Amino acid sequence: KTEILKIQSDNIDNEKIKYAAEVLRGGGLVAFPTETVYGLGADALDENAVKKIFEAKGRPSDNPLIVHIAGKEDVYGLAANVPPKAQILMDRFWPGPLTLVLEKSDKIPSVITAGLSTVGLRAPSHPIALALIREAGIPIAAPSANLSGRPSPTVPKHVIDDLYGRVDVIIDGGNANIGVESTVLDVTADVPVILRPGGVSFEQLKDVLKNVTMDPSLMKKPAGDFVPKAPGMKYTHYSPKADVIVVEGEPEKVAEKINSLIAEYQSKNIPVGVLATEQTKEFYKSVPSITLGDRLEPETIAANLFKAFRDFDDIGIKVIFAEAIDNQGIGLAVMNRMKKAAGYNIIKAV
Ligand code: TXA
Ligand code: MG
Repeated sequence: KTEILKIQSDNIDNEKIKYAAEVLRGGGLVAFPTETVYGLGADALDENAVKKIFEAKGRPSDNPLIVHIAGKEDVYGLAANVPPKAQILMDRFWPGPLTLVLEKSDKIPSVITAGLSTVGLRAPSHPIALALIREAGIPIAAPSANLSGRPSPTVPKHVIDDLYGRVDVIIDGGNANIGVESTVLDVTADVPVILRPGGVSFEQLKDVLKNVTMDPSLMKKPAGDFVPKAPGMKYTHYSPKADVIVVEGEPEKVAEKINSLIAEYQSKNIPVGVLATEQTKEFYKSVPSITLGDRLEPETIAANLFKAFRDFDDIGIKVIFAEAIDNQGIGLAVMNRMKKAAGYNIIKAV
């Protein structure tokens, strides 16, 4: 009952876009590519359609959804208040991987915001996502198109693996190129707060804003009763089925440490894998390893991370040793996802 529509992003078939837009307007579910990860879309103004998203994903209802729009012009009807700094951010980063949390207007149903008084809005830059939003002519609520608890999908196969039979249409539009989700930025306070690091970096935001802070819970294990401001951040998203252990330090020390851990786990017959970097890949000979990219090119590492998690699950790896990279640029989002996947199990190689 799921239709798969193959669409080329550099040569968009408008008939297929029209068809998918029609499904959305009729209250159906359509998975589509964005520049960050695949999203699972429904008409944001149709409460029943939005409820179907939560059902299809098995998503807890206290986790709000991002509403996708074509651009700045769509914000004013959906947000009750658009402060000047939000305008500056939209001009600079939209369309693109930045979600702005704003006071919501009455048009936004409360299923979307999980009862919060704010709504996350984003204009994606992916040509298929934009064409679909424009053609549908409605705001589209869309979380990542994975089953709840699995890593976000960056290739069409991941969406099909997770959602085939649960949604009306899956658009196969090739790979999502950024590979980690959008940056979620709360602009309701005087000083904007990063609730989730993502495709737009802290440094890029600092270039434009005088002041920007990070939710203190982002890079460390939340204390027992701590409630993060982005409700989604409390769930162990992004996790493969395997246990993840992050190892940080100088590349050679990290490789040495991981090799001693490999020996230890292999002696207990536990299948292990390594998420390596260009700098260290030759050090891992005895176990499956996936090279995510060069440590100096965090964009490549971001693009490959979620797929690597899934690839290790597919071959039955039970424990993944993941090399930490620098927190600079998109590296911050990479480390946030890795540490969350690891349940903050981090070893320092010295
Ligand atoms: O890149 C992305 O953002 C992708 C693509 C599909 O656009 N979408 C995505 O959605 O990652 P999702 O639902 O997987 O993650 C949305 C995150 C969650 O952590 C959620 O708690 C947070 O954004 N969020 C949404 N609305 C919010 C709000 N009003 N206040 C605070 N956090 C919010
Ligand atoms: Mg998600």
